[in-house]
Amino acid sequence: METLREFYERIKDCRKCPLAKGRTQVVFGVGSENADLMFIGEAPGYYEDQQGEPFVGAAGQLLDKLLASIGLTRNEVYIANIIKCRPPQNRDPLPEEVEACKPYLYKQIEMIAPKIICTLGNHATRVLLNKNVSISRVHGRKFGGNNYYIFPIYHPAAALHMRTNLSALEEDFLKLKEFLARGVEPPPKEPEQMGLF
Ligand code: URA
Repeated sequence: METLREFYERIKDCRKCPLAKGRTQVVFGVGSENADLMFIGEAPGYYEDQQGEPFVGAAGQLLDKLLASIGLTRNEVYIANIIKCRPPQNRDPLPEEVEACKPYLYKQIEMIAPKIICTLGNHATRVLLNKNVSISRVHGRKFGGNNYYIFPIYHPAAALHMRTNLSALEEDFLKLKEFLARGVEPPPKEPEQMGLF
């Protein structure tokens, strides 16, 4: 069976969309292949494009702090983005870029088989829930996916811009800690909303 490393080697020269032209490198993902908890952000920014690792800029430092607040490091979870190449001027990913990159993300999810996927912000949440939801309405709630729960939370960059988002993010991390401490059974097959916990 292919390892994540082998999968990365296979896709690192991807040219499926025009973002390939402007990138320094594909930003594949970081963390444990056996992680129970996976975080999915939007797209690499300047520092991620330079270093080849997701969430290494200011938002990433906040994510590391939030992980530490629940006793985790980035090596114990898995962190990836919806799209693997930096959009010019950090603009929002275009639907065709998301579509081109989605099979890579879903293959990563299949290989890692996490129990919980935390989507960071609107973009990732909309892709994973396949619904045009707003993060302000769905954050901190768990949704049943096929073999995993989806737990949307604010994007750390949004929390850096607004204090109320930071408080919400900190509270949602505490919920996540409780959820993990209780042990996570696989969700029912239907992707229905499981409600607050
Ligand atoms: N923002 C994201 O969504 N992903 C990164 O990797 C960095 C910043």
